Amino acid sequence: MLSIAIDGPSGAGKSTISRLIAEKLGFIYVDTGALYRTIALYMLENTVDTADAVSVTENLSRISIETKHDGLQRMFLNGRDVTEAIRRPELSLLASAVSAIPSVREFLLDTQRSFAQKNNVIMDGRDIGTTVLPNANLKIFLTAAAEDRAKRRYLEQKEKGFDVDYDSILSDINKRDYNDSHRAVSPLTRAADAILVDTTGNELEQSVSLLYNLIIEKLGLTK
Ligand code: DC
Repeated sequence: MLSIAIDGPSGAGKSTISRLIAEKLGFIYVDTGALYRTIALYMLENTVDTADAVSVTENLSRISIETKHDGLQRMFLNGRDVTEAIRRPELSLLASAVSAIPSVREFLLDTQRSFAQKNNVIMDGRDIGTTVLPNANLKIFLTAAAEDRAKRRYLEQKEKGFDVDYDSILSDINKRDYNDSHRAVSPLTRAADAILVDTTGNELEQSVSLLYNLIIEKLGLTK
């Protein structure tokens, strides 16, 4: 099985780019952020304070997460389809908060690894190359300037019909960058053997073809 790890900060284009490339390669695309978002949704709906690590940990045993991969990654929380619900903007910071709790990361580790045991995968997240799949065949650290990432997220959310404003998205991104890179367990950091790709100023198509060509070359695949 082949695995490609794509890590980087929020809004660098990881998910869109990974999904498109997975389709071209016939790999499964795994969005690991969706797992953290699903846990955050459970805590929100059950009024569990995400700052309270003990309560969050106690509640993990009540959560069962399933996924279905049919081009899109459909998420099921205790049997309910939450694919759209986890995209609500308020879940971004809550997901970042639960992701800092070690028991949550531990809880999701096997799920993430089992995808890569059974399928050729492109997996995106924050710690895929460092922790989840340290032996991935290829590791990429995808980044872009915070303002660029905020602009993309703003347009994306607006298109989905959410009432958002650019300044609060930028401040959200800065907060999440800080949280994600300063937590004690598996912080967002570039693996020593990850290739750094900066997409600042790129159109989506440019980044997709840049990464696609890089992957083909590094893994010795044919187009
Ligand atoms: O990729 P995303 O924005 O959907 O991720 C939501 C949050 O989940 C993000 O702020 C950090 C966390 N996360 C993580 O800690 N590790 C991962 N592998 C993926 C996401």
